Amino acid sequence: MTTTPITDTITTLAAEARAALDAAADEAALEAWRVGVLGRGGSLTAVLRSLAGLEPETRRAVGAAANRLRDELEAALAARREALGAQALAAQVAAGALDVTLPGRPLRRGGLHPVTQTLRVILDAFTRMGFDTVEGPEVELDEYNFERLRIPADHPARDMWDTFWLSSLGAAPDRSAGSGAAARDRDAGALLLRTHTSPMQVRYMEQHAPPIRIAVPGRCYRYEATDATHEWMLTQVELLVVDEGVSMADLKGTLQEFARQIFGAQTRVLLRNSYFPFVEPGVELAVSCFACPGDDPACVVCRGSGWLEIMGAGMVHPEILAAAGYDAERVTGFAAGMGVERIAMLRHGIDDIRNFYANDLRFLRQF
Ligand code: DAH
Repeated sequence: MTTTPITDTITTLAAEARAALDAAADEAALEAWRVGVLGRGGSLTAVLRSLAGLEPETRRAVGAAANRLRDELEAALAARREALGAQALAAQVAAGALDVTLPGRPLRRGGLHPVTQTLRVILDAFTRMGFDTVEGPEVELDEYNFERLRIPADHPARDMWDTFWLSSLGAAPDRSAGSGAAARDRDAGALLLRTHTSPMQVRYMEQHAPPIRIAVPGRCYRYEATDATHEWMLTQVELLVVDEGVSMADLKGTLQEFARQIFGAQTRVLLRNSYFPFVEPGVELAVSCFACPGDDPACVVCRGSGWLEIMGAGMVHPEILAAAGYDAERVTGFAAGMGVERIAMLRHGIDDIRNFYANDLRFLRQF
């Protein structure tokens, strides 16, 4: 590159700019320097503009040098800014204004909701026993939530599940139109918020052949007044086992093992006769109180009864197996359904179910 007035200009500009940058001592000076050199009306920008009038060959050579200089000055600006920052920090430390040995501010960590924790413990127990976990819809058809579980519209057992009906998509049932076959047909198409996880028994059997061993966790909804033991939203886990030769002994053995894993090795289980339309026989399963020897009238957990009811269960009704297309003479099954909040309350000694969804961090942080 031959020496031309413009290369002289660039050389001078470079030297001046470097010196000015070294002299800039704070952020305002750095910014003034950037505007004065690299900015739209800056000295280097002016040089780059003036290249337009040069011979093509000179322009290429001088242009390359000028662009290199711009890159270099931009890098020098960043380095100078960083050095000044470090200097300022060091000055603060020296002046005692900043104590770098102080512990940092910890990030607030979230935690798993107590119901989620208990749900995981429950599902882990069943996973170890070979159950698959599957989920089903919370918005359900009357057909699955009731009809195909042998709970027709005019059946008194419907009173066990107060229901949130959905009227925007499916028609809410018109109770005034009476009961019987017509009402049943109309209700079967109606939508609701599932009142339990049992409808997944039917949905799963519809799609799969035995052997079946599933656990179905999920939210359920009840149109109920809330109190210390009732919420309008609850979490359930449903179990379904179907195979050749499944008996009441399998039901009892599986649930006993589960109870021991959740409440401790010394836990005993008690099956008491009960009624659910989709099982026969139906039972209520209770576990021995883990908080007292079983006869302490002052026990806050069992209130002296010695037993804690934790789920409904039973042998899957043969009509339900047959409706799924199974040979009910050959395969049998058991089912169970439990409330996760209830089990979480027992595990943690919580006396009011409404605490779970009140979103009070003072409660939730304890778990
Ligand atoms: N679905 C019942 C409820 O919500 C609980 C239940 C009882 C489930 C017996 C079952 C069963 O699978 O066999 O109250």
